[in-house]
Amino acid sequence: MAKVTYIQSDGTSRTCVNFEGMTLMHLAVGNLVDGIDALCGGMMQCATCHCYIDPDWIDRVGEAPEAERAMLEGINGVEVRTNSRLSCQVQLGEELDGLVVHIPADQPGI
Ligand code: FES
Repeated sequence: MAKVTYIQSDGTSRTCVNFEGMTLMHLAVGNLVDGIDALCGGMMQCATCHCYIDPDWIDRVGEAPEAERAMLEGINGVEVRTNSRLSCQVQLGEELDGLVVHIPADQPGI
């Protein structure tokens, strides 16, 4: 079990608790967190689950692997940073208890 705090671009935040086997995207969608649309359902096809891992957590979460980064960089409207991740590709476990994630003001195509 891990608590994750999602911070919106306006500074408001929600903290959610995951169940075993969830991704960062599933936790957000299941709790109706704004800004994680996940239109492809986690198939790494849409980038509407893009988020920024808090800089204090990026070493533990890990930067985006090459294929994920290339996908993000190929989509218009995504401001890719070193801490950019597709939330559908981040598996949650107890080691990420307390994780903080920032949600972009806009998602591509929305
Ligand atoms: S849900 Fe579509 S890329 Fe993550």
